[in-house]
Amino acid sequence: MSNTTRSNNKQFKMKKNILITGAAGFIGSHLVRLFVNKYPEYQIFNLDTLTYAGNLENLKDITDAPNYTFIKGDITDEVFIPELFAKYNFDGVIHLAAESHVDRSITDPFSFIRTNVFGTCNLLNAAKNAWKENMEGKRFYHVSTDEVYGALEFDGSFFTESTKYDPHSPYSASKASSDHFVRAYNDTYGLPVVISNCSNNYGANHFPEKLIPLSINNIKHNKPIPIYGKGENVRDWLWVNDHARAIDIIFHNGKNGQTYNIGGNNEWSNIELIHKLCEIMDRKLGREQGESAKLITFVKDRAGHDLRYAIDSSKLQNELGWKPSLQFEEGLEKTVDWYLENQEWLDNVTSGQYQNYYEKQYKERQ
Ligand code: NAD
Ligand code: TYD
Repeated sequence: MSNTTRSNNKQFKMKKNILITGAAGFIGSHLVRLFVNKYPEYQIFNLDTLTYAGNLENLKDITDAPNYTFIKGDITDEVFIPELFAKYNFDGVIHLAAESHVDRSITDPFSFIRTNVFGTCNLLNAAKNAWKENMEGKRFYHVSTDEVYGALEFDGSFFTESTKYDPHSPYSASKASSDHFVRAYNDTYGLPVVISNCSNNYGANHFPEKLIPLSINNIKHNKPIPIYGKGENVRDWLWVNDHARAIDIIFHNGKNGQTYNIGGNNEWSNIELIHKLCEIMDRKLGREQGESAKLITFVKDRAGHDLRYAIDSSKLQNELGWKPSLQFEEGLEKTVDWYLENQEWLDNVTSGQYQNYYEKQYKERQ
């Protein structure tokens, strides 16, 4: 970090126009709801191009809020993005838009390079140019992942903010690259930035290609639950609303130029987790205990599959006072309840019906 930035670690002041990218996705939708409800004095702009992972149904409860605006647009668009910054004079950016699924990155790495690397650079550049006269009070917050650190052994170690980057999948390599560009814009141009690296999230509105929602959906429909390899890989699971709370705290109180790790201190091997999920689903669906576990099917391992992730979030806890609010068992119960109560959401997502939502809701109004 440059000396100027190090000495300029004033807390970010409350500002008016906040751009949140990727807020029609899983984490972004929880974050944008938190901001719209908690900060009526902010104008919140959700920029999302609505890929398969973007779903405006996630946000139908805030669509008409006076301090919320949806903008359909692509972060990689080199003309549109600078125009957007000129038009709305953003005070802060919270950047979540990304291609986010490791398996997709294995079959289509270039989409990840385009969105996660080029798209992030395009936003950084637009912010730099828009704020070049006065960067005071501005903030570019980049939301990243613990996967940039690579994989841990079963040795009780944790990822800290100073762990060397060692990404293995095209997804994590693209996120690592974007993190480096964010730091480079801080060092080179003095752009006020903050980065967080979070562990695996779970909760409502999670696209059912990821382990937990996919398994809930398959158990419900008596379909096989695919477990990669032997199911021994370990992830550190965090309730998505706790991630959103952490982003809120870091956005407002984090120090410029700093990185914060966010994690649940909640390690589960995939097979342990799926057994727990099966137990909950049996109870909720009135099945005999052990019934859903019969659906567990071991399949070919993911290429380059990281063995273990575990986050040390003590910096965030000690410096900014954040801690996870939910025990995993409680969070998992809540998550299962949400999916069982929102079958229509799941049906729309699995049938692709949700992709017409924007056309119906927004085009009519223009
Ligand atoms: P997601 O895939 O559910 O949502 C991504 C959103 O970005 C979607 O709404 C999509 O339409 C939008 N998007 C994609 N490409 C875009 C583009 N070119 N222009 C504009 N919008 C675009 O992802 P998520 O799980 O909510 O993750 C959000 C962020 O958090 C990502 O940056 C991810 O790397 C990071 N993260 C995720 C997790 C996790 O467990 N899901 C953990 C740590 C960090
Ligand atoms: P995932 O939800 O894709 O998140 P990430 O790859 O970002 O950690 O996967 C979580 C873990 O579950 C990971 O170890 C891969 C494994 N997994 C399966 O065993 N089966 C599946 O069908 C999926 C999607 C993931």
